[in-house]
Amino acid sequence: MTGRTLTFNIFRCDPQHANSSARMQTFELTETAGMTVFIALQQLRQEQDRSLQFDFVCRAGICGSCAMVINGMPTLACKTLTSQFDSSTITLMPLPGFELIGDLSVNTGKFMRSLSERLQGWLVPNGEERSFDAVEATMEPNAAEMVYEAERCVECGCCVSACAAAQMRDSFIGAVGMNKIARFALDVRDKRGPDDFYHVLGTADGVFGCMTLLGCVDSCPKGLNLQMQISYLRRKLALNPDRII
Ligand code: SF4
Ligand code: F3S
Ligand code: FES
Repeated sequence: MTGRTLTFNIFRCDPQHANSSARMQTFELTETAGMTVFIALQQLRQEQDRSLQFDFVCRAGICGSCAMVINGMPTLACKTLTSQFDSSTITLMPLPGFELIGDLSVNTGKFMRSLSERLQGWLVPNGEERSFDAVEATMEPNAAEMVYEAERCVECGCCVSACAAAQMRDSFIGAVGMNKIARFALDVRDKRGPDDFYHVLGTADGVFGCMTLLGCVDSCPKGLNLQMQISYLRRKLALNPDRII
């Protein structure tokens, strides 16, 4: 049995070349069993156009590199089966809201790095001196589970692209930023308290900039409960405006 003939409408633009203008280019490919959008792009690049730009590392939904807008929805190319679309036409666009590197490749790393620096997205130990020889401190299973859940974010950027508030306000930290804060707020090993996050979280760049549009929830390819994390932070502010934790 031969597969469908798929038509890919792909955004093309190379900002590295001054005379490159944005356009859509059409490719055709025969669908194979288990084909993902990533596999199709690999095949197109190998067989039809070696200049096609897109990102990938893990091919397993772990690194977040292959995020793009597939038929209007920001998601991961390596986790998207072509067979899930009834139509044989698939349109691919780069994630909006990030610097375009070329075609479907955007610089999410630059955005995530600056977000991490702004929010200090790393564990700030609660003062206890630890040595590498010390036995690892234990954590309540429920607390560990909540930290693990927030930690599943792969920083793909889909929630930023799917959020109109993030598209309107460059400084908005978005669901990915609020999930990051929640991750450390939930971690008993982190010493930070309300004052350390309030300058961002308590402003329009944080929970007050979120209009509960929930595009982040709809688009997160890891299925993170972002609504719960945003509500958790919002509740902390509402209950105790001077202290978020
Ligand atoms: Fe991607 Fe979800 Fe993390 Fe947003 S929260 S960056 S959509 S994994
Ligand atoms: Fe944006 Fe998600 Fe809030 S889509 S407005 S961060 S609920
Ligand atoms: Fe890593 Fe798709 S290539 S998530």
